[in-house]
Amino acid sequence: MEDVLTADDPLYGKLYDVREEAKHMGNYIERDVTDEIAALRAKAPVHKGKLRELLGLPNHLRHPGMAGQQHWTVLTYEACETVFRDPTTFSNAISHQPNADGEQTLSVLEMDPPQHRAFRRTIQPKFLMPEATGWWRDFTIDSIVERLVDRLKTRDRADLNMEICARIPVYTITTAIGLEGDDALRFRHAHVNSVENAGVPPEERYKNFLLVEKILQGLIDERRSRPTSDLVSSLLDATVRLPGEEPRPMTDREIMYMAKIVMIAGGGTSWRQMGITMLALLSNPDQLASVKADPSRLDDAVDESLRWNPTAPFFYRNATCDTELCGHKIAKGDIVEIGIGPANRDPSRWDNPDLFDINRPKLSNMAFGLGVHRCLGMNVAKVEMMHAIGALIEAFPNIRIDPDEPVPEIGGGFEQRGPTAVPVLLR
Ligand code: HEM
Repeated sequence: MEDVLTADDPLYGKLYDVREEAKHMGNYIERDVTDEIAALRAKAPVHKGKLRELLGLPNHLRHPGMAGQQHWTVLTYEACETVFRDPTTFSNAISHQPNADGEQTLSVLEMDPPQHRAFRRTIQPKFLMPEATGWWRDFTIDSIVERLVDRLKTRDRADLNMEICARIPVYTITTAIGLEGDDALRFRHAHVNSVENAGVPPEERYKNFLLVEKILQGLIDERRSRPTSDLVSSLLDATVRLPGEEPRPMTDREIMYMAKIVMIAGGGTSWRQMGITMLALLSNPDQLASVKADPSRLDDAVDESLRWNPTAPFFYRNATCDTELCGHKIAKGDIVEIGIGPANRDPSRWDNPDLFDINRPKLSNMAFGLGVHRCLGMNVAKVEMMHAIGALIEAFPNIRIDPDEPVPEIGGGFEQRGPTAVPVLLR
C-alpha cells in the first residue's frame, strides 16, 4: 500500500536536501573548514569572537537574540566539557522572549535547572533503555524500516538519503507523538517554517505556527478522552514537580512545547546522522565488511560516525555571571559557542581524529552533548540508525557506492551537517 512513508512525495526533495535546507535557514557554508578549525584548536582551546568571524565566513546568527553580544569559541574536548557541565554559569536560555502573561513558552532545551529537570522528568521515562527502545521499535521503528527496505527490493539502485534516511525519523517521531504517519511531511514542513530562524516572511511563519498548534491541540483533546501508549498520552498522564509548587499535571501549552521540541530535535538530526553513517561505511568497504561479518559492530560504526561527523556540531550558551574559561574573562551576557564537532576531533583525545575508524578504542564522544541537556532521544536515534543499516546490509549484501552518480559530500549548514546524497547500487 502506497502512503506518505513510501510515496514519491516532492516534499521529500524539498525538506531533505542538506544544501537547500541550509540555504533556507541562512547558514549554508560552501567550503570545508575542518583544517582551519584544527589550526585554531591547536593554538588555543578558547578564542575570542564568533567562529564564523574567525574563519572569515559570512555572518549569520543562529538565535537573533544573540545580536550584539560578545562571543567566545570553545574548541577542545576538555573546555567544551567544562561549559556543558556547568549549566548554572552557562545557561541555555538564549532565544527566549518572556511572554507578557507569564505563560510557559519555553522548550525543555531552553530551560535551566531546576525548571529543566522538572519538565525533562515528565517525558524521560519514554526514552530510557531498555523499555523505551522496546516501545519505540514495537510502536513505530521496526515496521517502518521493514516497509522501506522491502520497497527497495525491486530496485537496482537508490539514493539512500531520500529513500531511507529522510523517511525513517520523520515518520517515527510523528507517529510516536501520536499523529497519523500520513501527517508527517506536512507537519514537519509547517513546523520548520514556523520557528524563529525559518527563512520565510513573518506572516507565513505565523500561519505555519497556527497550523502546528491547531494540529497538536486537536491531538491533545483527542488523547485526553481516548489515551493510547503514545507520547502525548504519557505527557497528559505526567506530573510536573517544580520547586516551591504543588505537583500538578502539565498544561496543554506545556505539552505542546514538549511535543514540538521532540519533533524538531528528533526529525532532522537522525536523518542526517543516518546518512553520514551509511556514507562513511560505504566509503570504507573493509569496515563495512567487518559490520556485515558481525552485526554487533554496528554499535561501533554508529558511535564512530557520531564522533567523526556529528550532525549538530555547534551549540550555544549564555553566561549568567562574570566568569573565567581557560584564562579568558567571560562577562555576564556573553555567548559561548560550544564546538562539539571540533571537540570530537581533539587530537589529545583521539589519534588520527580525521579518520573514520570503527576499530579505534571506545571513548565517549560529545555528539549528543553532555550534562543536564544531554540528548533525550539518543537511544532512539541509535536504534533507528542501527536497525536501518542492519536491515539494509542483510537485504542487500552487495550494497556499494554507485560510481555513476556524482561523488557525495558531507555538507550543508554551519550548525547542521549531512550528506548531499547516498547513491548506491543494491545488487
Ligand atoms: C543522531 C541524532 C541526534 C543527535 C546528534 C542529537 C544531538 C543532541 C544534542 C547535542 C543535544 C544537546 C543540546 C544542548 O546541550 O544544548 C540534544 C538535545 C535533545 N535532543 Fe537530540 N540528537 C539526536 C536525536 C534526537 C532524537 C531522535 C530525539 C527525539 C526523539 C532528540 C531529542 C532531543 C531533545 C528533546 C533534546 C533536549 C534535551 C534537553 O534539553 O534536556 N534528539 N540532542
